Amino acid sequence: MCPYSKTSNRGGTTTNILVTGGAGYIGTHTCIALIEAGHTVVVADNLSNSKRESIETIKRITNQEIPFYEVDISDRQAVERIFETNHIDGVIHFAGLKAVGESVEKPATYYENNLISTLVLVNSCLKYGINRFVFSSSATVYGENEVPFVETMERYPTTNPYGETKAMCERILTDIAKANPLFSVSLLRYFNPVGAHESGLIGEVPTGIPNNLMPYLTQVAKGKIDDLSIFGNDYPTIDGTGVRDYIHVMDLAEGHVAALTYLKKGAHIYNLGTGQGTSVLQLVKAFEQANGVTISYKMVPRRSGDIACCYADVDKARRELQWIAKRDVITMCKDAWRFEQNNLHQEV
Ligand code: NAD
Ligand code: UD1
Repeated sequence: MCPYSKTSNRGGTTTNILVTGGAGYIGTHTCIALIEAGHTVVVADNLSNSKRESIETIKRITNQEIPFYEVDISDRQAVERIFETNHIDGVIHFAGLKAVGESVEKPATYYENNLISTLVLVNSCLKYGINRFVFSSSATVYGENEVPFVETMERYPTTNPYGETKAMCERILTDIAKANPLFSVSLLRYFNPVGAHESGLIGEVPTGIPNNLMPYLTQVAKGKIDDLSIFGNDYPTIDGTGVRDYIHVMDLAEGHVAALTYLKKGAHIYNLGTGQGTSVLQLVKAFEQANGVTISYKMVPRRSGDIACCYADVDKARRELQWIAKRDVITMCKDAWRFEQNNLHQEV
């Protein structure tokens, strides 16, 4: 038995969940959290941004068999075949393209992949009577808004096609829930997922030079990149650098289990964050303190499209999902670094 296996049925109802994009960063961690909570999972992923080995690693961590389908979720026949050959109680839809910069260069690819996959999947759910649906949205749909971001705020136009696909999918799923009284959907707006499973066996594997802060930090710490460029030190924040709500990926994964447990009829939006803002400089210091390493950095101009400050109001998730994030920034930094040190696949 793997020492990290915590599989137990905590007395809840066991359901069989289709996890699309389940070979990816958040999907793999969520499969583990679902299995730990006593559910079973079926994974569908086209491996466009992940590897088949991640499924083997989830099996190793959880000691569970996981049916895996290498399919594109935009392929209606392939999706329907999954529903015909498995009894599926609910769906968590992670499959999607997520690189903001790439979405500006290839908008048609992003709109096609993210919208068509969602439409095919939800239509297949309706056809097969599957009424429990959880969708990966993003805090990016708030645009530049007053902090903390609350679910009742108006959605602002985002600065890129990726963000627009999230806003559009939210709208599509909300309309579908209105028209189908049995349908329940949670629209989960993630803040900044970071960190890795405590085993150090799964985590985020960015392709090429990372865009996001935490994977960049780990690669500077490892000596793969000379120094971190801090994008702007003239924001109206505690130290002039951008503030974000970093959330440990295992807390986020557990948020999905809670969202499934407390699904209710209609479409409901939930922020999944910690409610705490951390500046870039504060994260650099936390990383150094957590891991006993030095991060060399330089200040450069702001990155276009960035906002000064973004953190969540987490009250609704606490009240309605009985969920709060438990892991602190030091744990996020330790777990991210443990995974980076173990990770042999990553090439820059
Ligand atoms: P990821 O790229 O690691 O995982 C997504 C998975 O979906 C990959 O394994 C990819 O191969 C698969 N995929 C993509 N298109 C597909 C398709 N058409 N059919 C089948 N599989 C497909 O990304 P992630 O960080 O795990 O993100 C998961 C979801 O959460 C995405 O929808 C993303 O937009 C959303 N999200 C992520 C973040 C973040 O910072 N990581 C923040 C907010 C929202
Ligand atoms: C990014 C995405 C956003 C997505 C979010 C969640 C962009 C433009 N936006 O946002 O759509 O929802 O991730 O994962 O990619 N920073 C540096 N140096 C770096 C990298 C980042 O200073 O090398 C700073 C940024 O300016 C920002 C903070 O670190 O202030 C966090 O950046 P990042 O990890 O890219 O996340 P977001 O910008 O919040």
